[in-house]
Amino acid sequence: MEVVICKDAQEVGEVSADRVVDAIAGRQTPVLGVATGSSPVSLYEALERRVAAGVLDLTHALAFALDEYVGISPQHPESYLQVVRRTVVEPLGLNPSRVRVPDGASADPHAAAAEYDAAIRAAGGIDVQILGIGSNGHIGFNEPYSSFASRTRVEVLTPQTRRDNARFFAHLDDVPTHCVTQGLGTIMESRVAVLVATGENKADAVRRMVEGPVAASCPGSILQFHPKACIVIDEAAASQLGDTEYFRYVAGLRST
Ligand code: GLP
Repeated sequence: MEVVICKDAQEVGEVSADRVVDAIAGRQTPVLGVATGSSPVSLYEALERRVAAGVLDLTHALAFALDEYVGISPQHPESYLQVVRRTVVEPLGLNPSRVRVPDGASADPHAAAAEYDAAIRAAGGIDVQILGIGSNGHIGFNEPYSSFASRTRVEVLTPQTRRDNARFFAHLDDVPTHCVTQGLGTIMESRVAVLVATGENKADAVRRMVEGPVAASCPGSILQFHPKACIVIDEAAASQLGDTEYFRYVAGLRST
């Protein structure tokens, strides 16, 4: 596991964007796994600068979102379908017909989840999975005690996650109670995983993910077993790490 500590969110964006670009170098049809949330915003902005500068072309890329709410309309501005369109597809120039988000509005979300998982495999798997981490250690919407072998499925959101995400809705009661999320087993099949986290409210989850035992109580800790995971964090998110001498970023040195 490579851990890179950056001075601020902008540097997190630049370093993590470099990792994403490295992961898809030479791929004719790169397959991206994309996350929503505040954490990857600086990463998407850094990728957007590369697209604008003509050094990155994602028009042929395929993309699969990590997760989606169940129980809100796909047209709702906070559905992940809309968030991915606004924050990823449009700014990065992806072809919307090549971008998929789990169908949380399906009449049979369980079947839709299984079909989504199969579609990722049929596309040849994800070259680079972009991730954030929840304050309780979740990745995607794999809440604590999710099976490490889990596949894309319907999940129940914890009260903590619903409170964390209430900032995107008018009222806590409006936050959906269920979701469809790629499973931990699905995420672990990505060839490269790039997780970004910023801010002190992620420091505890980051410590448990990086230094803690691999345990279902912190789903992100499974990334310790990922063959190519890079954790890019700012000083605040790193503030509870004990072994910072191992993690301090040295330009040009990669410690995978
Ligand atoms: C959300 C998403 C996750 C995201 C996490 C952290 O609910 N389902 O994919 O990584 O929680 O979000 P944020 O980056 O906004 O703190």
